[in-house]
This record gives sequence, C-alpha cells and structure tokens, in this order.
Amino acid sequence: MSEQDGRTPALAFKGVDTHYGAAHILKDVDLEIYEGEMVCLLGGNASGKTTTLKAILGMVEPTRGMVYIDGQPVNGWTTAERVKAGISMVPENRRLFKRMTVKENLEIGTYLRDDEENFEADLEHIFELFPRVKERLSQKAGTLSGGEQQMVAVGRALMAKPKVLLMDEPSMGLAPVLVAQNFDIIDQINRAGTTVFMVEQNANMALSIADRGYVLQTGQIVLSDTAQGLLNNPQMRSAYLGEA
Ligand SMILES: Nc1ncnc2c1ncn2[C@@H]1O[C@H](COP(=O)(O)OP(=O)(O)OP(=O)(O)O)[C@@H](O)[C@H]1O
Ligand SMILES: [Mg+2]
Repeated sequence: MSEQDGRTPALAFKGVDTHYGAAHILKDVDLEIYEGEMVCLLGGNASGKTTTLKAILGMVEPTRGMVYIDGQPVNGWTTAERVKAGISMVPENRRLFKRMTVKENLEIGTYLRDDEENFEADLEHIFELFPRVKERLSQKAGTLSGGEQQMVAVGRALMAKPKVLLMDEPSMGLAPVLVAQNFDIIDQINRAGTTVFMVEQNANMALSIADRGYVLQTGQIVLSDTAQGLLNNPQMRSAYLGEA
C-alpha cells in the first residue's frame, strides 16, 4: 500500500468494492487517513457514505479490495477486533440504548477495552467535554434532547479510547446552533490527538474544520483534495456548497 512522507495511514482502502446482494455500492474506492488528521467524506443521499464506515468496521465486507488499519490488512476481522485495534464510531442517528441510563450507555463504550478500571477517570474526561452529560447521568437516554443524545453518543465512542473516531453525519437533525457546538467539540477531540474520519452532507461545516476531504458520488470517489481546495473547487461549489 502507498505511503505519504514514509508514514503508514491509520486507515486505508485500496480498490474497495462492496455489494448488497446484486446492488453494487462502493466502486474501486481508495482512501488514506493519516494519524492526527481530520478527514471528511462528503456526498449526497445513498452515495455510499455509511457503507464506507461499515466497511471500515467490518459490518460490510468488501467483495473486492483491501481495508487496512495501521497498515495491517483487516479483511475478515470481526467488528470487535477492529474496535480493539482502535476504531470507534458515532453511528448515524446516534443509536443510543434508549431505555438505559446515560451512565450505562457510556459504560458500553468501554466493553472491549482491557482496562475498564479507569471508567471513573474517563468519565471525568467526558464531563470536561460535555458538562451537561454529568447532570444527566441517571436519566434514560431516550428522554434526552437530540443535542444531548449526540453528546452521549460521542462520549460513548470516546470511552473506547479510539485512535480513529468515525462519525456518521454528526450534524443530522440538530438545530444550527447545536451543529456549530458539535463541530467545535469534534475539532477539540481532533486537536487533542484523535484521528477523525467524518461523513457529512453539510459540506460547508465539515470543510470548515477538516484538513482534507473526499467526495463520493454513487459509490465512487470523484474528488479528493485539501479542505481549502474543495471549498475553492467550482464543481464542488455548484454541487455541494449551495451555490449556483
Ligand atoms: N443493508 C442493505 N441492504 C441493501 N441495500 C442497502 C443496505 N444498506 C444500504 N443499502 C443501499 O446502499 C446505498 C448506499 O447506502 P448508504 O447508507 O451507504 O448511503 P449514504 O451515503 O450513507 O446515504 P445517507 O446520506 O442517506 O445516509 C443506498 O442505495 C442504500 O439503499
Ligand atoms: Mg448514511
């Protein structure tokens, strides 16, 4: 696999195709995400964004091509093995366990870790990022507001102490002020050292904090550039940035 400045990508796809039955979704997708980067994957509905994240976690297996974590081919690895290798996801629509408390949801994030005894210390770290989560620890997750659910979903993913955090449309369903707050937190998490790979339809927002981006169109990467390069790209501006 290729390298940049002699570095091995934290996450990479090489020629990945996926199918759901006869439906050919991802087509020859190449991706490289380096340690410390924040990279976004942009694209419209049904372009294959969630499928890409699922292929990283082994919830979808490529029909062709390779997925690498830290340079190691992980095709055939279980999702649990990939989480242990340092990948964690904030899924589309948060997917909290609604009848469980906030604290129980956060505990679930630690299940595949070997050092669960640090739970309380890690909780403190989550409270620093999201003070409101501390006030809601014993509340059932299903009764939280959308913004609060997003905080708990991010907190749960961080409890796994990931090297790479995958985020599937963090802005979805949130009011603009919450979207801005949410992106601020993602930026902080990245600055504190966690590599972030984020799927978004809100291209302007995502590119405002990302280092680089890829654009997916019906399962194919059609653009790949720095965030600034994409923001200035005329093709990008008309198709994704809301300009005629
Ligand atoms: N389990 C499945 N079985 C069959 N088809 C599926 C399955 N999951 C997704 N698809 C199809 O694969 C295509 C890509 O879906 P995917 O969820 O990756 O898109 P997306 O880019 O995340 O879209 P959105 O922005 O709406 O979340 C869609 O046409 C979808 O209907
Ligand atoms: Mg999706």
